[in-house]
Amino acid sequence: MANLIAGIGTTHTPAIGAAIDNGKTDQPYWKPLFAGYPKAREWMAETKPDVAIIVYNDHASAFSLDIIPTFVVGVAEQFAPADEGYGPRRVPAVEGHPELAWHLVESLIFDEFDITIANDLPVDHGLTVPLSITCGQPDAWPMKVIPLAVNVIQYPQPTGRRCFNLGKAIRKAVDSFDEDLNVVIFGTGGMSHQLQGERAGLINSEFDVAFLDDLTRDVGRLTDIGHTEYLRESGSEGIELIMWLIMRGALGDDAKEIYRHYHVPASNSGAGLIVLEDA
Ligand code: DHB
Ligand code: FE
Repeated sequence: MANLIAGIGTTHTPAIGAAIDNGKTDQPYWKPLFAGYPKAREWMAETKPDVAIIVYNDHASAFSLDIIPTFVVGVAEQFAPADEGYGPRRVPAVEGHPELAWHLVESLIFDEFDITIANDLPVDHGLTVPLSITCGQPDAWPMKVIPLAVNVIQYPQPTGRRCFNLGKAIRKAVDSFDEDLNVVIFGTGGMSHQLQGERAGLINSEFDVAFLDDLTRDVGRLTDIGHTEYLRESGSEGIELIMWLIMRGALGDDAKEIYRHYHVPASNSGAGLIVLEDA
């Protein structure tokens, strides 16, 4: 049986990927951020998951405003890094796990989550930067990946509570997959940031740290956060944090915090990283 053993919450800020790709991680601006990553990479290297379900959002790379699916699961054998305007990141292609992905799709749809199925899905910084943060720069990513894309870009986004419940349904699907696999789930994006308008540059560290705290202390407070509160407290793009609630919903009530790192600033965002293990 497949086992969902842990969840990782991480920022997916594109400048973090660019710092890695361009060898800038030792520069004074970046050093304190990257000082937080070796411990998480060690955990990943020791844990050796077979599959990662990476919950992320597409930033108008694979999709556009023409069609805006709320939840998408990638079922392909492979996912190419997307060209976001500067050429694709020179990182390994992402290998999928079509059998588990199709099982997820079937189980989620029968559980009344109307999932969009993607046979071809170029993956942007939302997915590749979390891999770089947690795995460094290997020749091939050390695990198979199932991309799960969420619309956080165009109002109305799904609610945090809907996301949390989707996480629970993902857990049920993984538990019922008949192959011995260790699975981890990533919730990516955030933390607080606003890239546009009068409040561009907004970062709210207090909100971010309380969010990290309550992933283990008071998940109910987090699932109650609505769109207006995200907008007001964490900036217009802070709503990416609903994707962390999919990750959290897939873990049991007693999930344990193993590691965290938080640093401001990383480009225009509060940069958080947390590792939670299922009890
Ligand atoms: C930025 C973009 C993102 O998608 C994100 O999640 C955080 C920051 C940026 O452009 O700085
Ligand atoms: Fe983003």
